[in-house]
Amino acid sequence: MDESKLAIHGGPPIRSKPLPYRKLFGKKELEAVTKVFEDSWREGVDFGFQGKYEKLYTDKFCEFQGGGFADGVSSGTAAVYLALKVLYLEPGSDVITSPVTNPGSISSIILQGMNIVVADSQPNTFLLGPDEFEAALTPNTRAAVLTHSGGYPIDMNPIVEIAESKGIKIIEDGSQAHGALYKGKRVGRFGDIAAFSTMFSKTLATGGCGGLVYTENEEYYWPIRSHADRGKPFHISDFSQRRFDEYLFPALNFNLDELSCAIGLSTLSRLQKTIDKRFEITRKIDEALDASSVVSPALKPQYDCKPSIFFHTVMVDVDKLKVSKKEFAEAVAAEGIWVNPDYREVVSEWKWLQSYLKRGTHTPNASDFRDRTFNILLNERFSDEDIEDVIASILKVESVLAKT
Ligand SMILES: Cc1ncc(COP(=O)(O)O)c(C=O)c1O
Repeated sequence: MDESKLAIHGGPPIRSKPLPYRKLFGKKELEAVTKVFEDSWREGVDFGFQGKYEKLYTDKFCEFQGGGFADGVSSGTAAVYLALKVLYLEPGSDVITSPVTNPGSISSIILQGMNIVVADSQPNTFLLGPDEFEAALTPNTRAAVLTHSGGYPIDMNPIVEIAESKGIKIIEDGSQAHGALYKGKRVGRFGDIAAFSTMFSKTLATGGCGGLVYTENEEYYWPIRSHADRGKPFHISDFSQRRFDEYLFPALNFNLDELSCAIGLSTLSRLQKTIDKRFEITRKIDEALDASSVVSPALKPQYDCKPSIFFHTVMVDVDKLKVSKKEFAEAVAAEGIWVNPDYREVVSEWKWLQSYLKRGTHTPNASDFRDRTFNILLNERFSDEDIEDVIASILKVESVLAKT
């Protein structure tokens, strides 16, 4: 068989066996949940929520962050919802959002009666920048929900400075960037409140679903706790769960259960290692891309930061190709490499959102960057051999699909 024939054309793929699956939930997580069961049998009380595992997990998370208060909640979507809820904004307020994020981040705003204003990204990134933030401001802007997309921190300081001067509250969405550093501090510590998803594909995960609300401001923390659990007055240390008459206001139940918190505690204990490993993998990929004349590293922030890689974005020199970027990336995927050829998280392009958009119906920088890049999906189990196959696939595809 002709080894150089692309898999997409019926040739043999570079990868004959699948890339290593992440197996985030391994023996340690099984032990962690088993311990929750065993504790409950020994103590003679079924496990529930708001228990000792949530306390251990959230305390550990705050230690990891370098201080603050955290509440484990049922999803990242719930976390954004709660963060916005406790800002007590007038319905109809304008809320700036990132150009590239997940629908969960956006729906939380719409469902609270706010107007979405999508800001564009800085050229050649998926990240909102200070100029784009300023351009999105309206007289009615009261808050912004800013996503550190793909694991890279936004350039927060100038944005926070503008926001503070105008009384605009900032929510950081760190769902794709747990533990990323901006100027030496973890993301989540720059705005007023931060929301994190901890669902199974995230760098920090509590199980199938999960989320976390984080703040350094205790004045937000207690309302977050109450809004996450039916209006219970958690700020009163000896309040009784049974005294429904003393609850504060109507609120839903967004609790994270003890099993999930035990899993979170376990995955959190190796989060820094996970971050370091993923960073090292992308560093090696970028270094090896020197051999490519078509694909190159995409993101090189000019400010002091260290990403917590969620996916790895690479740039394609589309002028050198005989095919579209999407076709090129699809051909790489066919070689057995995990690739997202056509990233659909550009918010302004979502059809269902159009009638809710106040401004930001077009984010040319974000769309342009998406059209010239593709995302390599990876995990911390990738070996050097796996990285070599990623590069070999790219080189094989470009040997056929690049113009000569
Ligand atoms: C940036 C961002 N925000 C919010 C969410 C929503 O989180 P969840 O799926 O846990 O509701 C996700 C991911 O799913 C995300 O990537």
